[in-house]
Amino acid sequence: MSIRVDSLCHVYHPGTPLETRALAGVNLLVERGEWIAVVGQTGSGKSTLAQHLNALLLPTGGSVTVDGISTTGETAALREVRRKVGLVFQYPEHQLFAESVREEMAFGPKNWNFSEEEINRSTIETLTLLGLPLEFLDRSPFQLSGGQKRRLCIASVLASRPDYLVLDEPTAGMDAPGRKELLALLKCLVKEGIGVVHITHDLELALALADRVLVLEKGKTIFCGTPDSLMDELLDRPLKGLCLPPILDLVSGLRDYGYSIPYTLDPDALAERLEREIRS
Ligand SMILES: Nc1ncnc2c1ncn2[C@@H]1O[C@H](COP(=O)(O)OP(=O)(O)OP(=O)(O)O)[C@@H](O)[C@H]1O
Ligand SMILES: [Mg+2]
Repeated sequence: MSIRVDSLCHVYHPGTPLETRALAGVNLLVERGEWIAVVGQTGSGKSTLAQHLNALLLPTGGSVTVDGISTTGETAALREVRRKVGLVFQYPEHQLFAESVREEMAFGPKNWNFSEEEINRSTIETLTLLGLPLEFLDRSPFQLSGGQKRRLCIASVLASRPDYLVLDEPTAGMDAPGRKELLALLKCLVKEGIGVVHITHDLELALALADRVLVLEKGKTIFCGTPDSLMDELLDRPLKGLCLPPILDLVSGLRDYGYSIPYTLDPDALAERLEREIRS
């Protein structure tokens, strides 16, 4: 059970003066119960890739298959792909459309023929999971704050109980506690067996949390592997558009200075090790 992306290419507006090659041969495997982070500089193709994973965009070349179903298949197959893969958009304004939070939450489940009772249950459970009060049910989604809108986008996608969740910059606009809660929730979902694709500009977060990290540059894969191997790679040579997280930069400087400190993203572990080094 996995999403497979093979040699994926995407061209916007082909054959017109606006023609743009956004993806030029991307490979990726997402298993259920795995957290994949996608990083890369602005315009590298992350959102374009995200939209291919639930068949919102279709390949110009190469293929995307979800649990064996190709996104270039017939309409019924595309519907099944969209049921399996929930996509949370980069900008809440591109996703939210309903007049009330209740309608926003019910839209997906209704579309997948959930019963009234299931719709109510999943609405309440998912809003609560995302820390949104039920008093919001009759409010317009557009009256919510930026962080609340983002939570609503995630809740409304989760309400359909997808097998995979693709989140495009989900922590943007969230305060530190909200961000921490969301990341803990994603961890739980991964443990429950959902495959998570997390698009982020935050390399430190990707290195700390993901099982594997995909790095895109100009629509091409320039790295795909474990956080440890990416850390080694980054210490060896800079990857375009990615800066070493400050804590790794600090460790690197301390090592140059003669301290024998392992690379870590955990500030407490670094402080403890440094104290020991200074004492010895
Ligand atoms: N609807 C569109 N029509 C034409 N070109 C597009 C469209 N959407 C994206 N592009 C182009 O495709 C390329 C990849 O864009 P994409 O939005 O996938 O990048 P991104 O990595 O998500 O960037 P960001 O980090 O800024 O969100 C860019 O050159 C962009 O200008
Ligand atoms: Mg984007």
